[in-house]
Amino acid sequence: MQARPDESPESLQWWQKTIVYQIYPRSFQDSSGNGVGDIPGIISRLDHFTYLGVGAIWLSPFYPSPQLDFGYDISDFCDVDPLFGTLQDFDNLVKECHDRDIKVIVDFVPGHSSHLHPWFQKSVRREEPYTDYYVWHDGKTGDNGERLPPNNWLSVFGGSSWAWNEERGQFYFRPFLPEQPKLNYRNPRVVEEMKNVLRFWMSRGVDGVRVDAVSEIMESADKSQDEPCNMKGDYPQDQYEYLNHIHTSMHPEGFPLIRGWRDVMDEYEKKDGKSRFMVIEIYAPAKSRNVYREFGGNPFNMDLVDLERSGLSGQSLKSLIEEEYSNIGGGWPTFVLGNHDRNRLTFRFGREFADVLNMLLLTLKGTPTTYYGEELAMSNIEVSFEDTQDPFGKNMGPERYELFSRDPCRSPMQWDNTRHAGFTKSDHPWLPVHPDYANCNVKTQTKSDGSSTSLTLYKALATLRQKPAFLCGGIEFAICNKEVFSYIREDKTSGERYLVALNVGKVPALSDFSGSPVNATVEICTCSASKRLTTGQTVSLQGLTLNPGDGVVLKL
Ligand code: NOJ
Repeated sequence: MQARPDESPESLQWWQKTIVYQIYPRSFQDSSGNGVGDIPGIISRLDHFTYLGVGAIWLSPFYPSPQLDFGYDISDFCDVDPLFGTLQDFDNLVKECHDRDIKVIVDFVPGHSSHLHPWFQKSVRREEPYTDYYVWHDGKTGDNGERLPPNNWLSVFGGSSWAWNEERGQFYFRPFLPEQPKLNYRNPRVVEEMKNVLRFWMSRGVDGVRVDAVSEIMESADKSQDEPCNMKGDYPQDQYEYLNHIHTSMHPEGFPLIRGWRDVMDEYEKKDGKSRFMVIEIYAPAKSRNVYREFGGNPFNMDLVDLERSGLSGQSLKSLIEEEYSNIGGGWPTFVLGNHDRNRLTFRFGREFADVLNMLLLTLKGTPTTYYGEELAMSNIEVSFEDTQDPFGKNMGPERYELFSRDPCRSPMQWDNTRHAGFTKSDHPWLPVHPDYANCNVKTQTKSDGSSTSLTLYKALATLRQKPAFLCGGIEFAICNKEVFSYIREDKTSGERYLVALNVGKVPALSDFSGSPVNATVEICTCSASKRLTTGQTVSLQGLTLNPGDGVVLKL
């Protein structure tokens, strides 16, 4: 991908220059001693971002909620749940972040509310104007006269996506939990209500939003149509993947909603001249992501989130990344490695690949998003079925819960080697801390003796990526084979060029990168490579050996 002629570090917006760091508030820092993280806890840890060189945090939901989907079931879109603090705490967070030049991005969950939201309660009672705020349906009559859901549509969490409401005497659509009724975007009042939610948070000074579950934002108007079976795999009939979601996923009538939300953010941009970021949660191929770009959204590129060890090779990385760059047109890439819905990097790829993948994320062109703890290479925890908290895991039952539960990647942040890793003073953190916390924690990894750790590597990469070659320089693929993925980042103005070479394979690789020049200087290397290479060392490009998990940035 060539550098765009009009791009320079000065021409980029803040969200194109920063790393975005995802905080799962329940798990970051508990200040109240109840075992659950909170906003004052986050404020007490802001130095972590200054240390790392992270310029933006994204907070998963902290709004009032019965916490059945841990905050993604919202009962008041415009307040803070007492579990996490108060609106005043939130305002303090925004101020404290802005004082440190850190931007704040909040989760915007427009698709559904909690069943406890007053809108839903009033909709159940057919109180105007709320009667049609949700997607209600009479259902159909079965052979024995029984009431059945109108169609076979499945919930993302498994089972029918229709729930019966006795009081109203109708089914309602709920693509996630029964306690997460779907808002009806065919009702213009709902469209306006959610725009006002955005305005509420924009007015409190937030710099951007991450839009939740955009694929499921709209469903076909005609509820009489079943979805066909997905021919691509052999899935149990109650599992979401069993169907091909032609009526409920990425429905074209949902696209203009993105434009509407972007317009609201632009209202604020026009007022104060400050750019606002809207990143959208979508698991979709490059071409479909572009559709969302046309409507003003920045889709997350989840290709690396979807990648597993079996699919990891230099060639696979090249094809995924090349696909993004060659399809993106005038858009801006947003790469991610993990999030609160997926297994941690160390689980998916093995501990030995955590650093090299962070090196990849932070040296590509585009905005990187890091899930809390990945800078330390934190690991999945093990949770028994009895102790499972995540409704997705519980729903699937004891046989299948491990395939679906998201608890393992949501364990408390590991700050130091004191009890519960410094996360809480409670005897009962809401999820257990990983037993490796004695060594894998921020304090231990912030070494002053100069040796390399995952954290110090991350920090060094965060500093390096501020150079024009990484921010907006072109990217040219070099050797890409089973083991090695490598590319050159170049800033034409200054002539600075870097070679990034990563071994993501199973065996050592000896590569010849020579051309011009013959030698290069080691800028940064992963902890494993630092056993043989040191910063400032001159190496020959003719024969560079990288072991699995080794990564190096060389100045050419
Ligand atoms: C997507 C969120 O990332 C996930 O955690 C949540 O369960 C669903 N949306 C439903 O809100």
